[in-house]
Amino acid sequence: MKNIKAIIFDAYGTLFDVNSAAEKCKDKIGDKWEGFANYWRTTQLEYTWLRSLMKRHKDFWQVTEDSLDKSMETYEIDTSMKNELLDLYKILSPFKEVPEVLKSLKEKDFKLAILSNGTPSLLNELVKSNNLENIFDDIFSIEEVEVYKPDSKVYDIPIKKYNIKKNEVAFLSANTWDVSGGGNYGYKSIWVNRNSNTFDNLDYVPKHQIEDLSKLLDII
Ligand code: LAC
Repeated sequence: MKNIKAIIFDAYGTLFDVNSAAEKCKDKIGDKWEGFANYWRTTQLEYTWLRSLMKRHKDFWQVTEDSLDKSMETYEIDTSMKNELLDLYKILSPFKEVPEVLKSLKEKDFKLAILSNGTPSLLNELVKSNNLENIFDDIFSIEEVEVYKPDSKVYDIPIKKYNIKKNEVAFLSANTWDVSGGGNYGYKSIWVNRNSNTFDNLDYVPKHQIEDLSKLLDII
């Protein structure tokens, strides 16, 4: 990985565990908590893609709530749990290696940023609640362009801000479609493959595949 000037991270699923909200309620939800959590996440993402295609933008918090309503109905979860789940979504836990890796990267000479579908206030709260607020040079939100990933307008945001070339960005995501989105755009995309999944067939092969972020320190 030569000539990297900026290391840019996806947030949800990459730095922060999107299933941690439902997991914290697993005593109340029961065994179906994981199926429900995955369904909520998939529906949330589908809504982002569909809203971008329909040109009917709503911010990520509204999309998160809309997809939660559908998922709770589908999984027959009592509506009294809605606010608890939403509150927990605001303070998702990071994956365990994340704080230490980010602190080590901070010592090095790269721009460090988040580029996410989340709203600025959601992302700032998430970073703050996990004591990571002094790590990032920038927290870029798609709200700047009001269209969701993988639209190229999103991946343009840090390129314009830093005035660097696309291939000077190392972009990390655990979401295969986001790795492909950033990679097809021109970033050097790295797939954080936490669960030994299969990659997509979307015209891009990741520059590297790592099982968690601690391996990033070896390749950067
Ligand atoms: C994000 C979603 C894709 O943080 O995870 O942008």
